[in-house]
Amino acid sequence: MSILIKNGHVATASEDYLADVYIEGEQIVAIGSNLPYKADKVIDATGKVVLPGGIDPHVHLDMPFMGTFSSDDYETGTRAALFGGTTMVIDFILQTQGDSLYNALRIWQQKSVGKALADYSYHMAVTDFNPQTADEVVEMIEKEGITSFKTFMAYKGALMIDDGQMVQLMQIVKKHGGMVTVHATNGDMIDSLIAQNRSLGNHAPLYHYLSQPEVTEAEASARFADMLFYTGCPGYIVHLTCEGALNAVREATKRNQQINVETCIQYLLLDASLYEQDFDGAKWVMSPPLRQKKDQEALWAGIQQGLVNVVATDHCPFTWEQKQMGKEDFAKIPNGHPAIEHRMELLFSEGVNKGRISLPKFVELSTTNAAKKFGMYPRKGTIAIGADADICILDPKKKHTLSAKTHHMRTDYSAYEGREVTGKVETVLLRGKVAIENGKCLLEPGYGNFVKREKVK
Ligand code: URP
Ligand code: ZN
Ligand code: ZN
Repeated sequence: MSILIKNGHVATASEDYLADVYIEGEQIVAIGSNLPYKADKVIDATGKVVLPGGIDPHVHLDMPFMGTFSSDDYETGTRAALFGGTTMVIDFILQTQGDSLYNALRIWQQKSVGKALADYSYHMAVTDFNPQTADEVVEMIEKEGITSFKTFMAYKGALMIDDGQMVQLMQIVKKHGGMVTVHATNGDMIDSLIAQNRSLGNHAPLYHYLSQPEVTEAEASARFADMLFYTGCPGYIVHLTCEGALNAVREATKRNQQINVETCIQYLLLDASLYEQDFDGAKWVMSPPLRQKKDQEALWAGIQQGLVNVVATDHCPFTWEQKQMGKEDFAKIPNGHPAIEHRMELLFSEGVNKGRISLPKFVELSTTNAAKKFGMYPRKGTIAIGADADICILDPKKKHTLSAKTHHMRTDYSAYEGREVTGKVETVLLRGKVAIENGKCLLEPGYGNFVKREKVK
């Protein structure tokens, strides 16, 4: 099968220009003006932007969490991702405390193999670091192509490791060419604020926000940075939300340290005023919580300054019925929200169309940096000869409205209900196959491949 995309505005992280893109089989074979190839299928991209398919490196599919499971599985979640122009995701495997990494890997393989429509990889969450885990970390890197290890500084009793375990994990991961990623919030302080609020009879979603103040994230981010500095391990902070945490990263740069930072689209666009309503605020109960407008400004500025490198989603959807688990107690509301489908369009609309970021910066944030940092570049994350033909063709002027009535995520509400967006994903290719066209998904479950990743350079 060959495909010729004609006359598109092609964008990579370094440049954008008018060109044709020619694809044979799964790869891009030629890029240039007026390419002379005869193809099985020609796509006219006049007036459209031709982007590398998005990579969302922070999603939770079919994940056991807070007494339930995130409501999108590999089939529904990766299909929704494709509708939004994201052709690859990195999900999180959770080690069960007391059990092995390999057992966890097998469970996640059962969830994904034969079910995913988009390509995928896993971060391995190390929730119980011990000598056996240390050996398995090495095997994950050397044999399985899983090179990033997620840690939690919160969720004590289920996911959190202590600082001693963190440092030991960093030492082994550095030695073997991996990366340690972190949910950086001070779990002990948050647990004590939650207990205080409960004892005062404060049960509304607003108290989820008030139990996780900015300082809990700033403190943990600085502590993580210090541990990285001591060990020399490459590190990546997931879902950074606020000015204080960004300042911790900024402070670390003064000793010539480089820390990779991800924020998520919701932290750039939504704020904590959404919690100032009754139980409806549960739709946005996530950890860390939404912050203040000044934090959004800090994050947009951090993007320009090169401190924030990746925009992900932390897609961890629950249905409205699942959210009711916390009707009487904010601490029982499953944490997370649906977003996998909207990241690219929202970032394009609010970032590029509103003049906050350039088109190459959009590409860098939405795909290239994730591919580079997680060992997949240039196979993924760019439009280049020899790269996988993962392509998102977007109409930059088309307006549409986000709604649970039209989205493809398995949730009965939208975090962006009624929001108008300028820029619509129209056609998506994954490894040379048309995935999305005319509002339909043409791929079947199982087309998505597991992507083995290289060591961190
Ligand atoms: O609220 C969130 N973020 N849920 C998913 C788990 C996590 O902390 O990323
Ligand atoms: Zn987290
Ligand atoms: Zn997450």
